[in-house]
Amino acid sequence: MAVGIFDSGLGGLTVYREIRALMPDLALVYYGDNAHAPYGVRDADDIYALTCQGVSRLFDAGCDLVVLACNTASAAALRRMQEGWVPDDKRVLGVFVPLIEALTERQWGDNSAPREVGVKHVALFATPSTVASRAFQRELSFRAIGVDVEAQPCGGLVDALEAGDLILAEALVRSHVDALLRRMPKPEAAVLGCTHYPMLAEVFQAALGPDVNVFSQGRIVAKSLMDYLERHPDMLGKGTQNLFLTTGLPQSVSDQATRFLRQDIRFAASEIE
Ligand code: DGL
Repeated sequence: MAVGIFDSGLGGLTVYREIRALMPDLALVYYGDNAHAPYGVRDADDIYALTCQGVSRLFDAGCDLVVLACNTASAAALRRMQEGWVPDDKRVLGVFVPLIEALTERQWGDNSAPREVGVKHVALFATPSTVASRAFQRELSFRAIGVDVEAQPCGGLVDALEAGDLILAEALVRSHVDALLRRMPKPEAAVLGCTHYPMLAEVFQAALGPDVNVFSQGRIVAKSLMDYLERHPDMLGKGTQNLFLTTGLPQSVSDQATRFLRQDIRFAASEIE
C-alpha cells in the first residue's frame, strides 16, 4: 500500500510532510528529480519527458497512485500524461485542482458548472513555466467566474531554496511581492503555486500584509488525497515500504532535505540496482 509523491526536487517535501501528518500509517515513496531541478525554466516537452520518467519509477516501486507534488509538472505535463500515457490501472493526480477547490470553497471532486465565488482578486506566485502555461487560470475558469488573477513568475526562488540560501530567497520573495502589488494593489488571496514556497510562507505573508489570505498547498492536497483514498481504496498500490528516491547525489540531497524539512530524511539513488 504505497502512494507515490513526485517533485523536481525538495519542494514536494512540503506536501509529503502534510500527507504524513494526516495519514501516519500510509506507505509513501518520494521521488525528487534533483539532478534536473529546477523544472521551472524548462520547456513543456522536457518537463513532460522528465515527469513520465519519474512517475514510471514510482509505478515500479509499487505505487498505483502518484501525486505530482510539483505545480510546474502539473501545469506542463499532467493533462498530456492523463490523455495518453497513464495506464488504465494507475492514476496521476496534480496539485492545482485541490487548491482551486479550496479557494473556490467547493467539495473535493465537485465538477459542477463554474459559479460566482467570494474571492475576486487573486495573486499567483509560481515558477516561470507554470505562469507561462496559464494552467491555473484554465482550471480556475472551469470552477469560478469573475475572478481576476495576477501572476508573478518568481525567477530564482527555487534555485535559492534548493541551494539553502535563505537570505537570497527572502530578498527574492520581497521583490516578487512588490512587483505583483504594483499591478494588483489589493489581492484578497495569494496562492503559493510552487511546492517549494511554503518554506517561505511567513515571508510571503509579511510582505503581502495581514489582510491577504495566503494559500499553501500541502495541507489542502493532503486532505483531498485522504478523501480520494476513501473513495478509491483500490488505488493504494501494493508497495509497503517508505522510501525517498533521488536522481541526485543521495548524501547531499539527504543533508539538504534534512535542513529543508528540519527532520532527518535519508534518500537512496533512484536507479534500480
Ligand atoms: N516545486 C515545483 C513546483 O511546485 C518545481 C519547481 C521547479 O523545479 O522549478 O513548481
